Amino acid sequence: MDDPLVDQARKAVTEAYVPYSAYRVGAALRTADGTVFTGCNVENANYSNSLHAEEVAIGSAVAAGHREFDRLAVSSGARDGVTPCGMCRQTLAEFCADDLTIVCDRGDDGVVAYTLGELLPETISAATLSAAADDEQPTAHETDGTDTEDTS
Ligand code: THU
Ligand code: ZN
Repeated sequence: MDDPLVDQARKAVTEAYVPYSAYRVGAALRTADGTVFTGCNVENANYSNSLHAEEVAIGSAVAAGHREFDRLAVSSGARDGVTPCGMCRQTLAEFCADDLTIVCDRGDDGVVAYTLGELLPETISAATLSAAADDEQPTAHETDGTDTEDTS
């Protein structure tokens, strides 16, 4: 294995805080200028507040002013080729194009590479919303006065 980004994802795995699932995940996200941000999963006793490794990596990158990304590596303690979950795919799609490469670590079996478009086809994006806004027709209640507030 000679992929520096996968090595960084593996390093991030070691920082995972996983008292509930014991399933460690690490992510390394490379920006367009070559800077790498890493993240690990950070679990919480209420479970739903748990942060995913990819979320932590992209959140750190965006907080540092980055908006363009070209490569993500993901690894787990099991090196089982874990891929970003559906939620993380959508979070990535906010900032990353369909051709973002996502490299998933399978340990001795190497890596499996996907594009974001393969993992999350036909997603909702800012473009979806602006196209819909362009087509927007006023709804009946906006034109017939039925939602007018009675202030008398
Ligand atoms: N996990 C991630 O960190 N990234 C993913 O996209 C898949 C799931 C974490 C969340 C939780 O801490 C553990 O893996 C088990 O689901
Ligand atoms: Zn996730």
